[in-house]
Amino acid sequence: MSEIETLKQWIDESNNIVFFGGAGVSTESGIPDFRSVDGLYSQKYKYPPETIVSHTFLTKRTDEFFEFYKEKMVAPALKAKPNKAHYKLAEWEKQGKLKAVITQNIDGLHQAAGSKEVLELHGTIMKNYCDRCGKKYDVDHVLASDGVPKCECGGTIRPDVVLYEEGLDMNVMEKAVRYIERADILIIGGTSLVVYPAAGLIQYYRGKKLVLVNLSETSQDQYADLVIHEKIGEVFSKL
Ligand code: OAD
Repeated sequence: MSEIETLKQWIDESNNIVFFGGAGVSTESGIPDFRSVDGLYSQKYKYPPETIVSHTFLTKRTDEFFEFYKEKMVAPALKAKPNKAHYKLAEWEKQGKLKAVITQNIDGLHQAAGSKEVLELHGTIMKNYCDRCGKKYDVDHVLASDGVPKCECGGTIRPDVVLYEEGLDMNVMEKAVRYIERADILIIGGTSLVVYPAAGLIQYYRGKKLVLVNLSETSQDQYADLVIHEKIGEVFSKL
């Protein structure tokens, strides 16, 4: 049996699938990932992107932070449409087969495809709030603002996104752990599994059907029960 046939059989038989993904899930929607050769972190900027998307940069070089954030992270995500991987996950959830999508992505494409239980480990571009009074703003307001988005109270409107040097929401992490601990099949897709603590979630899986669908090799390939090095949208459209 081919890997895809095995995966198809496992999925057909399961009603407790959990998916854990990253930027590679959205590349087929036209959003570049971070670490591939054509990814965001391979492009040349004045500062390394890890520096730009950090808490220090947001507070100390706010203008440059928003210039990069709006142009490279928000605008491409708002233009993008979900792909076959996003739609297939939403379909499995609707059929009662999939319990949750756990994602490191901030682009909102899983919800756009119809997924309901989406745990966004790194937050979302869709939610924004004033760092002084807490007032909430939508993404269109942030994108349409000239330069640094400002609240009516004078504070800066920041995205509800986890930047480097910031901690993850522990409620979201604990929920993700609970789904993974109980999962029958854990499918990990489109993530290099190098950013912690998100990548550490894999350790909580106790089952025997750990599936990795990633274009390139990852350091965790050896622990998986099934490894497929192909585009995730193409793989999922065959299931
Ligand atoms: P990476 O860019 O590190 O990894 C994306 C992985 O997806 C790579 O291993 C690619 O080979 C693979 N890939 C690309 N296109 C694919 C496709 N169509 N099908 C299958 N695989 C594909 O992205 P993440 O692992 O998501 O954090 O990065 C994790 C975190 O690093 C991000 O959430 C972001 C970043 O810094 C923050 O911003 C806090």
